[in-house]
Amino acid sequence: MFLVVVISLIICDVVFADSGHSGCGGPGFLNRHTGEITSHNHFNNHNHYHRNSNCHWRIRANAGHVVRLSSIHFDVEPDANCDYDYLNIYDGSSNSAKLIGKFCGGSDVEVVSSSRYLYLEFHSDDSNEFTGFKFKYSFQQASAGCGNSFFMCKNHRCIQKSFLCDQEDDCGDNSDESATCKVAPSNCAENEYTCVADQKCILKTWLCDGEPDCAGGDDEAGCGLQTGISGCGSSSMQNGTSGVISSMNFPIEYNNDSKCHWDINVPPGKYIKLEFNRTFEVEPGEGPVCEYDRVTVYSGSGGRHFVGEYCGYQAPDSVIIPGSHGIVRFSSDEGESLAGFQIKWTAVDGDPTYVNPTVDPGPFGCDKDIYYNGAGTIQTPGFDPSGHYKDNTTCVWRIFGPEGYNIKLHFNDFGTEMSHQCKYDSLKIYDGPSASDELIATICGNRLPHEEWSKTNNMMVVFTSDKVYHDIGFRAVFTAVKPNDHQVTDIAACTGTPTVLTATSGTILSDLYDGVTEYPNNLNCQWKINAPVGKVITLWFNAFEAESTENCNYDYLSVYDGKNSYGLLMDKLCGMVYPEKMTSETNHMYIQFISDETAGGFGFNLTYTIEDPLPSCQDSEFRCRDTHCIAYSKVCNGHDDCGDGSDELVCGNDGVCGRPAIKPIESNTRIVGGREAIPNSWPWQISMKHYGRHNCGGSIIHPQWVVTASHCVEDNRNLDHLTIEAGKHHEKKDDPHQQIRRVTKILMHESYDSDLIDNDITLFKLDKPFILNEYVDIVCLPEVVVADGANCMVTGWGDTKNTSGAGLLKQALLPIVNVDKCNSTDYLDGDATDNMLCAGYDQGGIDSCQGDSGGPFVCKSGTKWDLQGIVSWGNGCAEEKSPGAYTKVINYIQWIQEMVASHP
Ligand SMILES: *[C@@H]1O[C@H](CO)[C@@H](O)[C@H](O)[C@H]1NC(C)=O
Ligand SMILES: *[C@@H]1O[C@H](CO)[C@@H](O)[C@H](O)[C@H]1NC(C)=O
Ligand SMILES: *[C@@H]1O[C@H](CO)[C@@H](O)[C@H](O)[C@H]1NC(C)=O
Ligand SMILES: *[C@@H]1O[C@H](CO)[C@@H](O)[C@H](O)[C@H]1NC(C)=O
Ligand SMILES: *[C@@H]1O[C@H](CO)[C@@H](O)[C@H](O)[C@H]1NC(C)=O
Ligand SMILES: *[C@@H]1O[C@H](CO)[C@@H](O)[C@H](O)[C@H]1NC(C)=O
Ligand SMILES: *[C@@H]1O[C@H](CO)[C@@H](O)[C@H](O)[C@H]1NC(C)=O
Repeated sequence: MFLVVVISLIICDVVFADSGHSGCGGPGFLNRHTGEITSHNHFNNHNHYHRNSNCHWRIRANAGHVVRLSSIHFDVEPDANCDYDYLNIYDGSSNSAKLIGKFCGGSDVEVVSSSRYLYLEFHSDDSNEFTGFKFKYSFQQASAGCGNSFFMCKNHRCIQKSFLCDQEDDCGDNSDESATCKVAPSNCAENEYTCVADQKCILKTWLCDGEPDCAGGDDEAGCGLQTGISGCGSSSMQNGTSGVISSMNFPIEYNNDSKCHWDINVPPGKYIKLEFNRTFEVEPGEGPVCEYDRVTVYSGSGGRHFVGEYCGYQAPDSVIIPGSHGIVRFSSDEGESLAGFQIKWTAVDGDPTYVNPTVDPGPFGCDKDIYYNGAGTIQTPGFDPSGHYKDNTTCVWRIFGPEGYNIKLHFNDFGTEMSHQCKYDSLKIYDGPSASDELIATICGNRLPHEEWSKTNNMMVVFTSDKVYHDIGFRAVFTAVKPNDHQVTDIAACTGTPTVLTATSGTILSDLYDGVTEYPNNLNCQWKINAPVGKVITLWFNAFEAESTENCNYDYLSVYDGKNSYGLLMDKLCGMVYPEKMTSETNHMYIQFISDETAGGFGFNLTYTIEDPLPSCQDSEFRCRDTHCIAYSKVCNGHDDCGDGSDELVCGNDGVCGRPAIKPIESNTRIVGGREAIPNSWPWQISMKHYGRHNCGGSIIHPQWVVTASHCVEDNRNLDHLTIEAGKHHEKKDDPHQQIRRVTKILMHESYDSDLIDNDITLFKLDKPFILNEYVDIVCLPEVVVADGANCMVTGWGDTKNTSGAGLLKQALLPIVNVDKCNSTDYLDGDATDNMLCAGYDQGGIDSCQGDSGGPFVCKSGTKWDLQGIVSWGNGCAEEKSPGAYTKVINYIQWIQEMVASHP
């Protein structure tokens, strides 16, 4: 856990490193699949954009794709005509293209380009009172539109569907009021094209397939327009018994952004053999499929049967097209241009017993072409629900179903590394056998995905893992089904108006909640809880998970104290970071849940109660279990001032805590990475196990309570998977005096900030108390702040970085580093907060590390040990001038006492 935090922070920094100029300090030319645009550098929702800015950005999608741009934040000086400050968005590659809109004020902006370009221009005058904008953009298949909850205007703006036909011109071109209010029926399905002359419906995949399917031939018109050639310079109709075809200019650079095809016809009964020239250079994809440039071969008249797809730097072996008709297609994108390819085709004797050679199983032995003859299973190689997939692996499955059917993929198991937009490990599903077909879904994370359906009879499934982090992988069943058997399950049930709740208590569940399956994409759900005047509302979090991103910008739950989003924002939550409960001060609460177009979590199960407000306690007061307040000075004075004993539960120094029966070694031998501890000499040390594997440390502060770090549970809060083990010396082996407990409550600090790693403290309540003895005992809580330079001890089973003692409890003595020194540029560079202690040596070499997280950092005070710190974070382990940061426990004594008091 320890290292994971650090690594993910580093990765985030380099993701959008496009190169370019003029984009208000950022890149002005963007051609990555996804990225962000901000009005100024160091944009953070609070600071202001610069005066007199004139910036522009040009975004270019890959061939066949369009750009989708959505605002995450938009706050530009408002003015009826946007004359002062404005953002112009043009539907093309420059400001001479059609203007989609001139934007200012605070409205959301959502736009899809009609070509592969979008051009943005930002102007500001000499006032600078506004916070500016942040957009994310992504490339998508041209057919994907604006997404489920939006309507696409004629001018390609995306507006909320609820704005349709509301007699206001929300599009700016009135297309939201005219076109859709009168129903304009088209007989053709979504995946079909309407022929101009006879209104016949043909599959969109038949467009530009080299065969006129519409009476007027309009399905073949305009194909290869960009180059003006359909056979790359040679005839696209190749009839006879042999011939040669090649990319244009072969063997010098082929043209960018081209599409060519050849229709090969040999005498009936013959088959076609293709032999590739050894000079073969077609830009390969980044993944296992030909994402950029490709040569694709189909058989059958009209070419509906996929034979193979080729790219890269090695000429494929010869290919047989089983039949007398074949189609070869070549497409290139804007990027690199290479030598290309040349194919010699010849008619060979047809052989009805011919079977295509089994497809090359690929570099990882798992690629497969599946010709459907009944439902089957696909899975990551060697799938085992208690194991994991290999890093740096790719697999491609192509499933060819019978004509007239769709392919349904049902997941039985799923787990891959989670990242926004699944940048690292992912499963991609295409509606056809090639990456040029529509991308149906990109999936990653730990939630069982919903079923996916193709719209054609073929599907390609691509699994990719990178070289770090893994999970169990997946197993899924594919079935061919009639298109009308498709159960639409992914429709958002809660877009539009809020659900109003007025009962004295109730439940709020996310769409299709079952605690396991991922919620749908593109949700915008709202609830309003109205309580009688004088009452307040408490919202309890029974379970919660949404896509985890920095600042919760993509999927999130917002809770407002008030009637609507103008109320006080109490919290914006994502990931698995959430409090036990939230209580309003007013008699209204407004809740909004947003999900974007990729990735998610299982959603949430919330309950609310309407109650009288609690008496408020002063800062100098302590809240007893029965909710009344007493002076904090009476806590732990040996007298039951609350009347229910709750003020005497966790006391710093009770004369018993912090005194190990088995004496630990207290000196430091300064061996690299510390030394093995004497077994059970740190009796408060616990091991938190997740699925039986050591995950984090922790400390016993009360027989039934353990304190650990919040980041240890920020992506895993399922109580069924956790055990707490005390009395241990061996990480993996059983120990004679060990005691094992389950967790019944996780109380994460309500102000835990996973970006700053601030307030990194969490309490576990156990199912039953530990039996305290000489092997298992409690640690003291500190009463005084530990001095700079004091030598304190950290213990844990963490990563030993190849030093000795792996698998055994280790200890290391570390001096406290002055916080200002620690926070200076040479050290933690401003990342230390008031809630952190720093400890370590300038020269490095000894430190806590991955796996020690949450564990005790204790300092000796007289004859007892105080828990001054909780292992929290560091930049690497034992690096020079990089002390570790520890949660400063003394700041949380009252919080701990009140939490324990209120959870009997
Ligand atoms: C080539 O062969 C196809 C199929 O036999 C036929 O439809 C087409 O007219 C032929 N084209 C030429 C130019 O001979
Ligand atoms: C294709 O585009 C790339 C990048 O824009 C350029 O370097 C290359 O010269 C172009 N090739 C041709 C043949 O136009
Ligand atoms: C392959 O292409 C090169 C370059 O055009 C040509 O010289 C060579 O003859 C071709 N090889 C075959 C077997 O056609
Ligand atoms: C990933 O796998 C490929 C193909 O086997 C190999 O060439 C490459 O070196 C591997 N990279 C790493 C980092 O393991
Ligand atoms: C939601 O959580 C409550 C409290 O834990 C539980 O009783 C209820 O069954 C849960 N609801 C669902 C649908 O899981
Ligand atoms: C780890 O330790 C072993 C044994 O001492 C040594 O052979 C190996 O080179 C070390 N590996 C690293 C990465 O330091
Ligand atoms: C560390 O430095 C940052 C940036 O200067 C500052 O915001 C923060 O308050 C400092 N922390 C402490 C504990 O002084």
